[in-house]
Amino acid sequence: MVSSLRIRPAKRIAGEIHAPSDKSITHRALLLGSLAESGSFIRNPLWAEDCRAMLQCLRNLGLGAELDGPGLRLSPRPLQSSDVSLDCGNSGTAMRLLAGAIASHRGVQATLIGDESLSQRPMRRVTEPLRQMGAEIAGDTAPLTLIGRQLRGIEHDLEVASAQVKSALLVAGLRADRTTVVREPCQSRDHTERLLRSIGVGIRSAEGWTEVEPGPLPGFEIDIPGDFSSAAFWIVAATLLSGSELIVHGLGTNPTRSGLLRVVNVVLESERVALGEPMGDLVIQQPAKPKPFTIEGELVPLLIDEIPILAVLATQLQGTSLFKDASELRVKESDRIAATVTFLTQMGACITATDDGMIIEGPTPLRGAVLNSGGDHRIAMSQVIAGLLAQRDSVVNDVDCIATSYPDFVKHLEKLVEY
Ligand code: S3P
Repeated sequence: MVSSLRIRPAKRIAGEIHAPSDKSITHRALLLGSLAESGSFIRNPLWAEDCRAMLQCLRNLGLGAELDGPGLRLSPRPLQSSDVSLDCGNSGTAMRLLAGAIASHRGVQATLIGDESLSQRPMRRVTEPLRQMGAEIAGDTAPLTLIGRQLRGIEHDLEVASAQVKSALLVAGLRADRTTVVREPCQSRDHTERLLRSIGVGIRSAEGWTEVEPGPLPGFEIDIPGDFSSAAFWIVAATLLSGSELIVHGLGTNPTRSGLLRVVNVVLESERVALGEPMGDLVIQQPAKPKPFTIEGELVPLLIDEIPILAVLATQLQGTSLFKDASELRVKESDRIAATVTFLTQMGACITATDDGMIIEGPTPLRGAVLNSGGDHRIAMSQVIAGLLAQRDSVVNDVDCIATSYPDFVKHLEKLVEY
């Protein structure tokens, strides 16, 4: 069943939560743990649909995985061909990372499939360089059928900054015959590099450049930090609802993920580093309203998933905010430029789409409205937050997709919002 949420105008955000675990890092821990030479332990993995899909695909390729207290104990076995199609569901990260792993395991054969949205997303950006490495892959959109081969290390320049593609090539490079180099037009999230480096794999990187040596992967223990992209919804709500007080414990603050902090004012406490990933407790108390902003160039990948909720923020700021260089948004789980402009226009915002972004004139009061997420989790959650800021009740339809990345979202909504 596809359900709906009725959202009332809120007074403020008040309370504390543990951030839901990071989706990107959970994906990488699952994949790298299943390719390692010995067992791994993942403490607090994200139990969301995307990561469950990744885990099921890996189980179908032979991975042993058992629940153990707050975590998952992985017992890797050599990857084996899967006679069932591996269903990545809605997850682009699962499909692209798995492509790199399967393509580089000689003799392993599998077909990657996905839901309607994932089946339309561009995969050539990953199949093409993998083919240059010698991979045998049929298809440039899902379904992708792969037959693993001994690959060659290559030097590859990505056309768009993409952590998924970079990671797929680095994973493939671990089993190539020589060094693999990946260059990006600007820095995308670097979770794969940090995890590999902290478990002793031969990887070097600088901004926009990464090089990996082939070699074995040791098992590891990892504590998954909180997901900045999930916390972003509460950060924006607390920034806009005056008198708010919010604490998010255990939040990942990796600079390649937390570009939103250049726009909003927060305090970070108890900062620490775990397996190369910085984290801390984020505190917002009586925040000042931010100034309108321009998001462009190198900043875009550092907050790519937060752009819909940043657009909600921009509608409430005095002046013009601009999003440029963000055409990648058009090939996410939905066309997020079109989806964001549609729902904010419905609510009375002054927002215009451009080819690669949006122009927003604020502030405009938001009207309550009946909204539809189109099955995109981040659009659904952005619509809920916009509903909290509106003057009348709203209804957000098709909210089951929120479980893709943030199964506890409604629980946290009930906990944090005061009416
Ligand atoms: C992700 C990288 C980003 C992001 C996606 C998750 C990852 O995509 O939008 O939600 O886990 O590597 P791109 O790598 O395509 O930019």
